Amino acid sequence: MPPPVKLAIIGGGPSAFYVASRLLSLLPLRDPMSPSLRVHMYDRLWAPHGLVRYGVAPDHPEVKNCTNKFDVTATDPRFRFFGNVNVGSTPLHSIPHALHLPLTSILNNYSHLLFSTGCTMPTQHPAIPPSAWCIPALSLVHWYTQHPSQPPPPAFDKISHLTLIGQGNVSLDIARILLTSPSVLRQYDVPEHVLEVLSRSTVKHVSIVGRRGPLEAAFTTKELREMINLPEASMIPIDPALLTPPSGVTLTRQQRRTLELLQKGSKNLPGSTLKSWSLHFYRSPASLTPPSSASVLDMANLTLAHTRLDPATSRAVPTGETSTLPTSLVVTSLGFYADPESAFFDPALRHLRSSAGRITSSEGSALKNVYASGWAANGAKGVLASTMIDAYAVASTILSDIVPSSESVTIPTPPLPEMGMAPDELLNRHPDLDALPSEIVHGIKDGIVTQYDDWKVIDAEEVRRGEALGKERERMSWDEALPFIAPSRARP
Ligand SMILES: Cc1cc2nc3c(=O)[nH]c(=O)nc-3n(C[C@H](O)[C@H](O)[C@H](O)COP(=O)(O)OP(=O)(O)OC[C@H]3O[C@@H](n4cnc5c(N)ncnc54)[C@H](O)[C@@H]3O)c2cc1C
Ligand SMILES: NC(=O)c1ccc[n+]([C@@H]2O[C@H](COP(=O)([O-])OP(=O)(O)OC[C@H]3O[C@@H](n4cnc5c(N)ncnc54)[C@H](OP(=O)(O)O)[C@@H]3O)[C@@H](O)[C@H]2O)c1
Repeated sequence: MPPPVKLAIIGGGPSAFYVASRLLSLLPLRDPMSPSLRVHMYDRLWAPHGLVRYGVAPDHPEVKNCTNKFDVTATDPRFRFFGNVNVGSTPLHSIPHALHLPLTSILNNYSHLLFSTGCTMPTQHPAIPPSAWCIPALSLVHWYTQHPSQPPPPAFDKISHLTLIGQGNVSLDIARILLTSPSVLRQYDVPEHVLEVLSRSTVKHVSIVGRRGPLEAAFTTKELREMINLPEASMIPIDPALLTPPSGVTLTRQQRRTLELLQKGSKNLPGSTLKSWSLHFYRSPASLTPPSSASVLDMANLTLAHTRLDPATSRAVPTGETSTLPTSLVVTSLGFYADPESAFFDPALRHLRSSAGRITSSEGSALKNVYASGWAANGAKGVLASTMIDAYAVASTILSDIVPSSESVTIPTPPLPEMGMAPDELLNRHPDLDALPSEIVHGIKDGIVTQYDDWKVIDAEEVRRGEALGKERERMSWDEALPFIAPSRARP
């Protein structure tokens, strides 16, 4: 019989849940050959599911169906979830009420460790730092999903023109939300305070700026088609010269569809709607000059460097020309990177150092029983389907260490000077399977650490409040959720 396994997973997003669900199903509870197994998941947010709850656009409710599978995983008696727990020395300032759990408490209490911490930091553009006229897309996403970091509401009631920098799906999510009537959004999981701001919005036009061309745009056809079909907005036609592919280039299916959609244009004719949007290709931000007066009605001036594609590298290179786009607010949507304060963060990769699901030392050798999955391991690319495929592969890697076959390779533990500890001390080889770090025991007693049962009560209450308002759910803030996290319901 293989030795008992006590796995801590840091992060409670889809990657974490897919690894947990795969592992628990590959090692069935009642199989006498399965080792004793415990899977404890920690998230700094009080609610589980990561970007599925705090990222996916509210008008895409079907995307969140994966949580039904995660609910089943959470019913396994070997699984526990601990929310509102920030693990490691990552900054706490964004979520003031989260309990701080040092990584050493995890290392002392567990035999195996998985990092599924995602990429939680928005990429900034050096030419246009955050200011009153430039905010990251993530703060808008956090606003409309009521993220516990509680960003301030945007002043959409005072502006007419918004510019998104970056042409990925997050940009299109934001543009779509802004150009859709609140009466349509009302049925979804959009908090009332968000609907209230959107209903006062005076935004008339959204510009979406990309440094490369239509063939290189990062958005997908499904999301582009949704923009084209928006019932209350029209697209400004694109110069046909930009939509003619260079001769001799073989287009992918996605590129062909993108060009077809852009050539066809929006369902609504330009000028026939109150709201409109435009795609600006081969433009990269160079500077942002605030309005000359203090009046919020005045626009800032965004200077855009014109670019062309370097055929050898497919990168955008400046042509030397520039132009100016007057705009009320710039929103940078340039992707994400992992928290640089995380253990094993690699500044060159901008995510955790790992290889084939295993965390590696700075010398490149795999660390015994320490793993990484999802965006934390691979960077901020891919959708839920690719996150699931990656998670299943990581679960297989963990399984191969837990139940080694005769061919499996033994992973030596390399020295870890950066962790300030000797190799054999890294994880606990014989942990008490049901013991919890003392901080968590106290956190549960004090009613500030959420468990999955708490979440299911809150989830039901959010759905109930939503039903009363004729919508999918009405989200609760931490303060509203607190009474539902009763210490009396805590398990010892
Ligand atoms: C705005 C947005 C919208 C998206 N919409 C879609 C969509 O419609 N369809 C689709 O298929 N894909 C979508 N994606 C992509 C999808 O969300 C990702 O593929 C997926 O969430 C990655 O999963 P993950 O578990 O690696 O990361 P995450 O979902 O980010 O989960 C990581 C978790 O780790 C936690 N964490 C981080 N650090 C710590 C710490 N120190 N201690 C404790 N917990 C920690 C975080 O709180 C978070 O809950 C979207 C992505 C974004 C950014
Ligand atoms: N509905 C959905 O399925 C959905 C919704 C949201 C997110 N997602 C997924 O989540 C992942 C992240 O999405 P995302 O939109 O945040 O990122 P993304 O797809 O990587 O797009 C980032 C955009 O920013 C641009 N960019 C990056 N750095 C730049 C710079 N310095 N200057 C100018 N432009 C720059 C990129 O241009 P270059 O290409 O030139 O680098 C690209 O257009 C993606 O895989 C996405 O598909 C999916």
